[in-house]
Amino acid sequence: MDRLAGRVALVTGAASGIGRATAMRLADEGATVIVADVQDGPGQQVAEQLAGTGGPPSYQHLDVSDEAA
Ligand SMILES: NC(=O)c1ccc[n+]([C@@H]2O[C@H](COP(=O)([O-])OP(=O)(O)OC[C@H]3O[C@@H](n4cnc5c(N)ncnc54)[C@H](O)[C@@H]3O)[C@@H](O)[C@H]2O)c1
Repeated sequence: MDRLAGRVALVTGAASGIGRATAMRLADEGATVIVADVQDGPGQQVAEQLAGTGGPPSYQHLDVSDEAA
């Protein structure tokens, strides 16, 4: 489905669990997904899995408890 084609989604905590599943679903719907987490290795793996679904792989280290980040 392309319901979210042309849209960009930033998903925090997307390296595993609910965040990962959310990132996958948004990509399935056509969104370009930015995977953000504090676990860089697993986060980059999720981004690689999403490559080609909604755009190029995109991982961003982000600690949501760090206001400056
Ligand atoms: N899995 C369930 O069935 C379920 C049910 C009810 C509530 N919850 C709650 O929902 C939340 C997520 O659950 P989950 O199963 O997806 O957990 P999870 O541990 O698989 O995923 C959490 C993700 O958040 C990331 N994260 C942690 N601290 C972070 C920070 N400061 N900045 C950015 N990313 C950070 C972790 O690295 C991890 O990738 C938890 O609080 C859990 O207690 C889960």
